[in-house]
Amino acid sequence: MSRRRRIYDCKAKVLFEGPEPGTLVQYFKDDATAFNNQKKGTITGKGVLNNRISEYLMVKLGEIGIPTHFVRRLNMREQLVREVEIIPLEVVIRNVAAGSLAKRLGIAEGTQLPRSIIEYYYKSDELGDPMVSEEHITAFNWAMPQDLDEMLALSLRINDFLTGLLLGVGLRLVDFKLEFGRLYENEEMRIVLADEISPDNCRLWDVKTGEKLDKDRFRRDLGNVEEAYQEVARRLGILPEGGPRDMKGPSTMQ
Ligand code: TMP
Repeated sequence: MSRRRRIYDCKAKVLFEGPEPGTLVQYFKDDATAFNNQKKGTITGKGVLNNRISEYLMVKLGEIGIPTHFVRRLNMREQLVREVEIIPLEVVIRNVAAGSLAKRLGIAEGTQLPRSIIEYYYKSDELGDPMVSEEHITAFNWAMPQDLDEMLALSLRINDFLTGLLLGVGLRLVDFKLEFGRLYENEEMRIVLADEISPDNCRLWDVKTGEKLDKDRFRRDLGNVEEAYQEVARRLGILPEGGPRDMKGPSTMQ
């Protein structure tokens, strides 16, 4: 058992106190939940793969000037990140109708949207993450109007970049969820991308076959869940050295 102080325990990750002030260690679990914790399970090797996939995508985003909380990967299941004040919103960017949008508006899953659509959800497990508008966000001070503008601009740049990157490896970026945080540095505040980007919070479909290669395989009991995460990592060229057998990784924290 680690003696490091646990700062935050969420469904798929644990945040520990980092080695230096202003840093945290983000530990990726194999645990998976869906439908606000009603469905629970384990996806063997998911933590190792999501750690790599999120590292890869955050580094690439950093290279095009998107500020992120990511510092470096520490080991199979952990990465060092900057400590930020999380803005209590889930920002969902959609390119293709799927999931809750398809259901709520009665649009056939797979319909290309006329343009990218951004939605905001208020992060609250008790309330089941309700969808909110910019009016709610600014009226209740979850974010200032200029913070929202910044999040929107970053989300659209991230969407454009990731859509292209993933298309290059035969994946259609259907939709995804982002979280942002406030980073305080030299009396200044910057909005940075936080959390993770992985098949846990993206919908990724094979361009040719339409096969789902993301957490929907777990949510909808489609089978081959582990294989889907491995396939995304493989396409990005980042499967762990020992291949799928190496995926459990050292369980140093738990
Ligand atoms: P939705 O269609 O269920 O609203 O999901 C939209 C996208 O957001 C999808 O890529 C999955 C992701 N997502 C999360 O990462 N966390 C969540 O709690 C939910 C509901 C969705």
